[in-house]
Amino acid sequence: MTNGDSIEYPSIRMRRNRQNPWVRRMVSENTLNVADLIWPLFVIEGNKKREPVPSMPGVERLSIDLLVREVEKASILGIPAIALFPNTPDDKRDDEASEAFNPDNLVCRAVRAIKRDVPDIGVICDVALDPYTSHGHDGLLIDDEIANDETVEALIMQSLNQVQAGCDILAPSDMMDHRIGAIRQALEEHGFENTLIMSYAAKYASAFYGPFRDAVGSSGTLKGDKRTYQMDPANSDEALREVELDIEEGADMIMVKPGMPYLDIAARIKEEFQMPTFAYQVSGEYAMIMAAVQNGWLDHEKVMMESLMSFKRAGCDGILTYFALEAAKILKNPTS
Ligand code: PBG
Repeated sequence: MTNGDSIEYPSIRMRRNRQNPWVRRMVSENTLNVADLIWPLFVIEGNKKREPVPSMPGVERLSIDLLVREVEKASILGIPAIALFPNTPDDKRDDEASEAFNPDNLVCRAVRAIKRDVPDIGVICDVALDPYTSHGHDGLLIDDEIANDETVEALIMQSLNQVQAGCDILAPSDMMDHRIGAIRQALEEHGFENTLIMSYAAKYASAFYGPFRDAVGSSGTLKGDKRTYQMDPANSDEALREVELDIEEGADMIMVKPGMPYLDIAARIKEEFQMPTFAYQVSGEYAMIMAAVQNGWLDHEKVMMESLMSFKRAGCDGILTYFALEAAKILKNPTS
């Protein structure tokens, strides 16, 4: 206080507002809702098949029949959307990512099955070529470089293919330049003016994606790294430029990825643009927490919920998280 009669202890006691559950609830600044949770799921070929992902304890790849049942659970709990990632059989991966354009590929069949059986949940499809390329990169490799403009043409075909299958939200995760504008224009031209785009606008070249690459089967095949297209973890201003461009090009929502190590980026972006802003608590973040939980070093439920709340505090409107189903169950039936 500036004047002489400064208000201080004992008049001010910060702990008054923390003394019991009801007042803590009254003054809490942020809340986590089921509607904040987006659930990423891995899909495989086959019937009644489930395969654990060893580096992501508790996460399984599912065949379409089982996947639909999980999605139904999510829908009943009130999760607004799921995100699909295919583990393409190795013999269908090639240098051109041709399987990405096949209307009957795994992800398109999964989208159609979900839209038929669980019509009330939003379906998000990734736009990037890495589940389909023999070299594991998100783009086309020409003369040892990821060729931007040729890749964007391929991403347009992949996008239209997924939208024709019924996908509601396209989520380009490839980090090619101008892909949002190009995809948006193609959607308009083909009569898909209501398709949403959630752009992975600020996506960093991160080692936290390791377990995901195991899950989609690209870790063994990936040649080199993705640093010529994903962002340098040292940069923050550059993230704002990426987001600004994607908004101008027609993105409806934007995403930051990874999540917890990049909450500063999410907070800056939300403050600067006031757009629907999402963060992806990626596979490596999930793996870190679960490894500690399995060792008895961290409390599963408490750490999971605290980690999710941190995204809300940073200003995120929602979180893509492998914890979505478990967290939704707790939010529906709070124990404490
Ligand atoms: C593919 C893609 C990746 C993730 C989402 N989409 C991996 C990558 O860029 O290598 C990572 C998600 C996670 O780690 O949970 N473009």
